[in-house]
Amino acid sequence: MSIIKLLSKKTDKILFTTPSHSQKPMFNTSISNMYNIDYSEVNGFDNLSNPKSSIFYAQAKASEIMNAKQTFFITQGATTAILSAMKALINPGDKVLVARNCHKSVFNGLILTAGIVDWFIPETDENWGIYTHIDCEKLESTFNLNQYKAFIMTSPTYEGINSDIEKIAKLCKKFNIYLIVDEAHGTLNNFSSNLPKSAMEQGADVSINSLHKTAGALNQCALLNIGNNIQNIDIETFQRAINIFQTSSPSYPLLSNIEHCINFLNSEDGNKEINGLFCEIDKLKKDLNRFGVQFYVSENHDQTKILARKEGISGYDLSEIMFDEFNIEDEMNNAISCLYLTGIGTTKSKLEKLKNGLKKVITNPSYEFVKTDFQPFPLTKIQPVDTFNREYMYVNKENSLLKISNKTIMPYPPGIGLLYPGEAIQKWHLDYLDKDVEIMV
Ligand SMILES: Cc1ncc(COP(=O)(O)O)c(C=O)c1O
Repeated sequence: MSIIKLLSKKTDKILFTTPSHSQKPMFNTSISNMYNIDYSEVNGFDNLSNPKSSIFYAQAKASEIMNAKQTFFITQGATTAILSAMKALINPGDKVLVARNCHKSVFNGLILTAGIVDWFIPETDENWGIYTHIDCEKLESTFNLNQYKAFIMTSPTYEGINSDIEKIAKLCKKFNIYLIVDEAHGTLNNFSSNLPKSAMEQGADVSINSLHKTAGALNQCALLNIGNNIQNIDIETFQRAINIFQTSSPSYPLLSNIEHCINFLNSEDGNKEINGLFCEIDKLKKDLNRFGVQFYVSENHDQTKILARKEGISGYDLSEIMFDEFNIEDEMNNAISCLYLTGIGTTKSKLEKLKNGLKKVITNPSYEFVKTDFQPFPLTKIQPVDTFNREYMYVNKENSLLKISNKTIMPYPPGIGLLYPGEAIQKWHLDYLDKDVEIMV
């Protein structure tokens, strides 16, 4: 089916996925007819790669709202914001510590910057099958081993677990390491007292927000925030890095969507919307607890990411039944649980449908959850920068053990690699590989 045909059909699916806006604007937007507002750098308009007027002022206001020294509007997703931040801070040969639950864009950033990676494994929760927070003691021990240029981590995680950024930022300052926080899923942190403070407020050097994921903006709207206390680098360097990756043709529809989105989140109406969402989710959880539905809860958990499991059924089966019988699509599922993403645009009636569906799923009391087995510590044999365009050959899966993979194994979502090119294939990976495996020569 063509794209045009696909989009002409109205879907009746109830989506708990990104983007959170439910295919409706939740705030004022200039976009009623995209053509009306689609301009380039004509007289009176600004220049995206060297903003001096409208984009400059909109970014300056956003910087204040985001508690940043500088907030840049990015119209090509958090991916571009991550690549730009990495390009600005990391030079070829710099050592970079990366939390392994990073989005794939960080691996691509390592290819582009020629940074030398060491992986850091976040804590895990086997009972839910998820990565959790960064342990500060382990981090400090790792910092003692090498002089890193930057530490790159994700907080909140896809499932909503926030790490203690304030502590991590202090540790990074002590060791003279730049802290880059991928806060793609945590834009609302800056706008709600129900959530931990934002990475900017907690002292990160750089943070990245994806506005479409939870904040009600259109796909590809993102922010790159530079912290107030960043040292030994000027803002111009970030602009130059952004200009490498970002289009030279500004999309005013997307730029205005970003501006509207931030203004809304910062307004009384936005505040009401966010608090209302927390209230409704709280009610939903209390109600569903009585029907054997359990929710992931922890001190630093963002409750807008509803991670649910039901006694007597696997996450995979729950996901399938919810889709087949109730037309409800989750963002992600694993052997144990399903992740229902909410945000600006998740209405009360949508949550009501989720509640009714989850109540009705019939379970089998004899079914017991299995504990999750996480990916082994990665064995990097060839650094990311040297993995692109390598010669490769095929071997039979049985003969691939400890050979160097030329391929990525990556479930999407969440876009977290289980095996990247340049890493040794370990026994654990074999279940995920095809019969013939691409290995580097
Ligand atoms: C943690 C995280 N960071 C970055 C990204 C990239 O975001 P985008 O798709 O806006 O480029 C994603 C996308 O799923 C993500 O989950």
